[in-house]
Amino acid sequence: ETLTAVICGGGNAAHVMTGLASSRENVDIRVLDVFSDEAERWTKTLGADPLLLTVNHPDGTHDEVRGKPSMITNDASKAVPGASLIIFAVPAFAHESYFEAIKPYLKPNTTIVGMPGQPGFEFQCFSILKDIAPECCVVAFEGLPWAARISEFGRAVTVLSTKDFLGCVVIKGKSNVGPDPMKPVQYLLGPHPVAQIYHNFLEPTLNTKSIMHPPIMYGTWHEWDGQPLDSKPLFYQGLTAEAAELMSGMSDELIATAREISRKKPEFNLDGVGHLFDWFKLIYKDEIKDKSSLLTALQTNSAFNGLLHPMKETPDGKFLPDFTYRYMTEDVPFGVVVLKGISEIAGVATPVTDKVLAWSQKMIGKEYIVGDKLCGKDVATSRAPQRYGYKTLDDFDILL
Ligand code: NAI
Repeated sequence: ETLTAVICGGGNAAHVMTGLASSRENVDIRVLDVFSDEAERWTKTLGADPLLLTVNHPDGTHDEVRGKPSMITNDASKAVPGASLIIFAVPAFAHESYFEAIKPYLKPNTTIVGMPGQPGFEFQCFSILKDIAPECCVVAFEGLPWAARISEFGRAVTVLSTKDFLGCVVIKGKSNVGPDPMKPVQYLLGPHPVAQIYHNFLEPTLNTKSIMHPPIMYGTWHEWDGQPLDSKPLFYQGLTAEAAELMSGMSDELIATAREISRKKPEFNLDGVGHLFDWFKLIYKDEIKDKSSLLTALQTNSAFNGLLHPMKETPDGKFLPDFTYRYMTEDVPFGVVVLKGISEIAGVATPVTDKVLAWSQKMIGKEYIVGDKLCGKDVATSRAPQRYGYKTLDDFDILL
């Protein structure tokens, strides 16, 4: 039987997923790209050729993988009918446009995959796809399976590295997608990463890495005098003690939130929620030189060597911090704000998160919190549960 899948997006992630999926046997892979004129450009650029994936391996060798989708379109009425699997491979800010695009054509028992989902994916999915979402299977990966860069738009992409394992959530609801909804997903991904299923959506959400970038930005820039710099500062190696402390404090607040939710609602098993420092030591055990604290672990992780702050160049060759970069514009509305919303519903105070959020929202010209309450006008464009009408922990039951 042919596996018909739609890959949504047109960036790095969508290129990799399209190439990999199309290289498998017995598949019909369709690309849905609703952004600007990308679908048309991609179709023209590719012509009759397959997409080329260069997959790098840790030992320095590489494989070439080729695959050709059956269509690349911006028209969901062509891509969605007949598909059993829809994979979102776009940044979180673009998810809304894809939920809206697929909604009219979606049938029960479809599997919808966020790759990655990012905090708030489930709230948004169940809100936009109201009646149909509980009849579908919703899967959300906690990260992207690869580090990848397009080398030639529409034609070639390089997979720099592939994760061995990757956590995900499976919300099966009332759907009837078969005993193992992950089987077709894993088939398209190949042997790696191996999908590891969390107990429920709150586990990866409260473990999110979205709490890393905003406190680092805070640490470096909250006392900045506004003058352009001669060079771009190091992002991790230049980490301040204050930033590491804030990051750690935000992680503590998420653990407190998890404890409180499990206490009030034991059906939410959140044993998998842990501190960022422990996760970090585990994942980068061979790369970190000094594991004595979160600060030193971040400063001495060779995987982060040379990474710089996102900066904009001025006409005279100097540099200003770029607060429009995804470290702020993705990790705040689709990260920290969602977490703040969950903590608030759980009744847990979050003074450290509030401090970072108050500064971050100012830098991106938004208002999410007012004092310590998540009631600012821009909650309406975030993925906080409050935006979608979730008020109590019982409202989360539908996502179990
Ligand atoms: P990307 O930056 O390549 O995505 C760009 C694409 O997003 C565009 O080509 C377009 O298709 C779409 N897009 C842009 N603006 C849009 C708009 N206004 N409306 C609708 N669509 C729009 O992103 P990439 O690299 O594919 O990453 C996807 C996700 O994976 C992101 O959340 C990213 O943070 C995450 N990620 C990416 C990694 C990588 O190595 N590329 C590594 C780890 C995580």
